Amino acid sequence: MKKHIKIFDTTLRDGEQTPRVNLNTQEKLRIAKQLESLGVDVIEAGFAVASPGDFESVKLIAENIEKSTVTSLARAVKKDIEVAAEAVKNAKKPRIHTFIATSPIHREYKLKMTKEQILDRVKEMVSYAKSFIDDIEFSSEDATRTEKEFLVEVYETAIKAGATTLNVPDTVGYRTPNEMFELITYLKKNVKGIENVDISVHCHDDLGLSVANSVAAIQAGATQIECTINGLGERAGNTSLEEIAMILKTRKDLFEEYYTNIDSKQIYPTSKLVSLLTGVSTQPNKAIVGANAFAHESGIHQHGVLANPETYEIMSPESVGRNPDSLVLGKHSGKHAFVQKLESLGFNHVGSDRVEELFAQFKKLADKKKYVLDEDIIALVAGEAAKI
Ligand code: KIV
Ligand code: ZN
Repeated sequence: MKKHIKIFDTTLRDGEQTPRVNLNTQEKLRIAKQLESLGVDVIEAGFAVASPGDFESVKLIAENIEKSTVTSLARAVKKDIEVAAEAVKNAKKPRIHTFIATSPIHREYKLKMTKEQILDRVKEMVSYAKSFIDDIEFSSEDATRTEKEFLVEVYETAIKAGATTLNVPDTVGYRTPNEMFELITYLKKNVKGIENVDISVHCHDDLGLSVANSVAAIQAGATQIECTINGLGERAGNTSLEEIAMILKTRKDLFEEYYTNIDSKQIYPTSKLVSLLTGVSTQPNKAIVGANAFAHESGIHQHGVLANPETYEIMSPESVGRNPDSLVLGKHSGKHAFVQKLESLGFNHVGSDRVEELFAQFKKLADKKKYVLDEDIIALVAGEAAKI
């Protein structure tokens, strides 16, 4: 039987920690709905205790998402857990994600707590979270710089207190793929009860290894990957969802035994929507979603691709929801081309009345601009998000 790799998207929490990114409640809801269409298993909707706005966003998302689990982050303190529980309580599938740092440097300088105090806190707070909701994720912040033996104690305590997912964050993006593989293998071997829970990894990209580390973790037995759209996140960002999903899909020879629920055709529309709403564009050479990811510049490459795209493409642009012929729209374009463009951008559930309105807006815009770009079309639709 194939193994399900759960995709936990934290664009709305860690992704929002990208410097200068600030999303309002409606923008967050719009992204959450798109993440649901993309097929993510878990949406981390925010950090409910952080601000009244974050609480409202998590609550609204919890109330409006049908298929994905919705979670809020909470430090391992009572107040955070209470607020997170309140924010997600109306979700079809609610989860609380609670965490505490465990590494020596965090224990000494940030928490000023002993190992024993940390273990007591994990026991008490995971049990407390469990008294509200059944689905509890526990994260050991800076796990990858924590003594392995202590990490085993921490995770065993969390399991006994009711955690259903154990997350192993590489908080400062320090580890290499081999080390990540060894750590997950070690935990699987030594943590009692680990076979009954999901093992998750949450990798940061400080050394550019977050995706490689996540892949190594899957090969060692991790069953959940935490990631963000376009790799957004604190500092250098998090694991890119699009890269993980396409590695598993494209390298079937290596990953035959795994599957995700990601609808890869929704990857590009999701990436574009997140860029538009966060104001953070992807670099042109970004894998999968960058402007040049499927562009062939040299004559030799163009010749090869025209003869057979597989000469220089290991996946098709269509498979990630990109339009291979990049239809350019302008004021002379008709409704047929406009609808085709909407569909190629993943907006195929727009009703006919909405198409009429959007088409009229597009014509006004086309009068002002020589070419109307994909970004402009996405902006038109996103402005009307609530009616889709
Ligand atoms: O990077 C990290 O350790 C986190 C945790 C809160 C999961 O974001
Ligand atoms: Zn993080």
